[in-house]
Amino acid sequence: MSNKALMELGALPGMMAVKMQVEQIIQLKKIAKLRAQQGLKNQNQSNHLIFTGSPGTGKTTAARLIGEAFSSLGILKSEDYNNPFIEIHHADITSSLVGEAERNIKDKFEEARGGVLFIDEAYAFIGGEKSHKSGEKVIATIVQLMEDLREEVMVIIAGYANEIDEFLDSNPGLRSRFSNTVHFPDYSVPDMLQIAQKMLTDQDYQADNEYLGALANRLWFEKDKKGFGNARTVRNILEESIRMHSVRIAQMEYPSREDLMLLTKVDLESNRHHMLSEKEILQKAMKQMQTRLLEFELQDIISRKSTVE
Ligand SMILES: Nc1ncnc2c1ncn2[C@@H]1O[C@H](COP(=O)(O)OP(=O)(O)OP(=O)(O)O)[C@@H](O)[C@H]1O
Ligand SMILES: [Mg+2]
Repeated sequence: MSNKALMELGALPGMMAVKMQVEQIIQLKKIAKLRAQQGLKNQNQSNHLIFTGSPGTGKTTAARLIGEAFSSLGILKSEDYNNPFIEIHHADITSSLVGEAERNIKDKFEEARGGVLFIDEAYAFIGGEKSHKSGEKVIATIVQLMEDLREEVMVIIAGYANEIDEFLDSNPGLRSRFSNTVHFPDYSVPDMLQIAQKMLTDQDYQADNEYLGALANRLWFEKDKKGFGNARTVRNILEESIRMHSVRIAQMEYPSREDLMLLTKVDLESNRHHMLSEKEILQKAMKQMQTRLLEFELQDIISRKSTVE
């Protein structure tokens, strides 16, 4: 499908699965349009989407590109094609003044006309100040505006799957307003190495193989820690390395162009205590593979059982 924003999405490392889900949604919309022209029935046709996934899996990045794709394909009505992308958090909207939060939400929908209103951690709205049921009123306003402006504003809500579920249960009209869910899986270590290389190239840096090996070790270690932020953690580690690289290169009298660009293992060296030994890494990988094999065996048993029945 030749669309600039979609191609950009597909070119991001580790985003292939997301791009395929989005393409399916777009195809569904195209066919629904043709079916409607023939007077055939269609399922829920709202443009609003749910994004589930852990922090740093690219939800905000993808939401922006999908908004562009939807308006350039004419799925989203836009008067001036400036594709606004409005991101809101609970803290931007709430207010201690009665009625103010609803007004804030209305303003944000206005700003988002022709583009995307991205509600991060939508779950936070349920909490609200119970005293004047501010949360409930804001959600009711969102539900109403999602319907009134359904052709012009694409609402994308993002968060962990279980929290999204609770949010959708908080108002009876909410769940049916969304047509599709796109899941953003955690990045694998090889995906994150590619993401790191892309981030470095984008900033005119490079990494040698030793650096990439050390980075892989570090990511294996970080991956299981609480609060791991996928691509965001990659970005943070790279920023740290770029700082260390500057300190190292500042000591050279005449650094070459290559010196100025190349990150090497020593730029991660101070993080040696983070590293896992190779043996531990292999043990961990084996454990993951054994679990995966067990899943396959179970699936096999289940499917054999159902064919017998
Ligand atoms: N596939 C990718 N390729 C390159 N960079 C990426 C990719 N995914 C995410 N990033 C970068 O990682 C950072 C975090 O991504 P983003 O903000 O889109 O994640 P998120 O899922 O919205 O996170 P959160 O849930 O914490 O809001 C950004 O700097 C983004 O540019
Ligand atoms: Mg985000």
